[in-house]
Amino acid sequence: KRVLVLHGPNLNMLGQREPEIYGTDTLDDINQRLTAQAKEAGVALTCLQSNAEHALIDAVQQSRGQYDFIVINPAALTHTSIALRDAFQAVKVPFIEVHLSNVHAREAFRQHSYLSDCAQGVICGLGAAGYEFALAAAIQQLQASR
Ligand code: DQA
Repeated sequence: KRVLVLHGPNLNMLGQREPEIYGTDTLDDINQRLTAQAKEAGVALTCLQSNAEHALIDAVQQSRGQYDFIVINPAALTHTSIALRDAFQAVKVPFIEVHLSNVHAREAFRQHSYLSDCAQGVICGLGAAGYEFALAAAIQQLQASR
């Protein structure tokens, strides 16, 4: 079984970027923990970060037949990208949406997501651990369907 982890714009700056909101872990720290968690479960994991909307859309399109599950933090594209939503609708690969911060406790423009109603589930406000909870949920389902 294969899981794809996608990180959207500006998440390459984690650790330095508004640490009071996003925490002090770097993206590398997060990816390393997810990789260990996946390895333990016998699941193959690929992590990709991009600041470019098209690169994330390409990755979602190419996930069809290649990945069984996607964990994505779409970052600001959450609130803007109908195109990313359409890509998920096209491929029908199940996904969980993750946000480090509690987007509902922040600016009004962060409270709408173009992806949430297509997602299997949404985790927000739990920091970097949110990715691990999402991956645990994905692993549980993939193992049950083996
Ligand atoms: C974020 C929340 C978004 O509103 C913001 O644009 C981000 C990060 C989060 O993980 O909390 O870049 O997705």
